[in-house]
Amino acid sequence: DDPADLQPRPCVVTVMGHVDHGKTSLLDAIRETNVTATEAGGITQHIGAYQVEHNNKKITFLDTPGHEAFTAMRARGAKVTDIAILVVAADDGVMPQTVEAINHAKAAGVPIIVAINKIDRPDANPDRVKQQLTEYGLVAEEWGGDTVMVPVSAKTRQGLEDLLEMILLVAEMQELKANPNRPARGTVIEAELDKGRGPVATVLVQNGTLSVGDNLVAGTTWARVRAMMDYKGRRVKKAGPSTPVEVLGFSEVPHAGDQFFVVPDEKTARQIAEKRAS
Ligand code: GTP
Ligand code: NA
Ligand code: MG
Repeated sequence: DDPADLQPRPCVVTVMGHVDHGKTSLLDAIRETNVTATEAGGITQHIGAYQVEHNNKKITFLDTPGHEAFTAMRARGAKVTDIAILVVAADDGVMPQTVEAINHAKAAGVPIIVAINKIDRPDANPDRVKQQLTEYGLVAEEWGGDTVMVPVSAKTRQGLEDLLEMILLVAEMQELKANPNRPARGTVIEAELDKGRGPVATVLVQNGTLSVGDNLVAGTTWARVRAMMDYKGRRVKKAGPSTPVEVLGFSEVPHAGDQFFVVPDEKTARQIAEKRAS
């Protein structure tokens, strides 16, 4: 893209961390809604994608499942991310999937902000968490390092404003830009076969603008975009850079992590997908 065509885009944040350290609760608290209450067993089954606005600036959040089975998806998730929020429970401290998350973020070259969660708990020990994290090269700013660590509680909402401030601060330094006036490309975040609607995919638009009627290729699948829904389930006609959107119209269910790109027509989309599949 010509630098003159580039415009600021929202940052994309992935929330990572050990099982039950409070990733979904933290997102819930930030969104002031409650997703965990409707999840089977309180375990995240899919990557959720949401946007929030803070100080008139949008932040796109991706929630990643804490399940072992989704390690591969989580590894792919880091590629769409500008900032990783590492959630560490202040009572539990650093656990195996905390270390996994640190490794994913480092491998992707993504800056990490640590959210030390559950500080409302009587046995919370944020200093122990900071100490443990030094072993993995994450040294808190207040200890002379360069990692932002924010004590928070998804339960009492303590520290959430600070966390959002820090996200915007780190994002500002990245000077994130994209060209909304070009055919879209991005990544499939999650996909499934819906009984009534057929293949449904949540995609993140990373550059350009995706419109209803566009033809796209994702992995070995293709789509003529029939309808799009935003993270609130509202129908939208267009989705610009850093926007997560649910897409209907796929030929088959694409894979999480598949890159998509828009092509001029349906025939081209079908041909590319078929060639890739054979
Ligand atoms: P997975 O998606 O299964 O990996 O879990 P998660 O990291 O999304 O954690 P989740 O939000 O499901 O929270 C796990 C448990 O910790 C739930 O019982 C929450 O109510 C609780 N919890 C989360 N945040 C806090 C907090 O700040 N304080 C307290 N006291 N409990 C919390
Ligand atoms: Na959980
Ligand atoms: Mg969760």
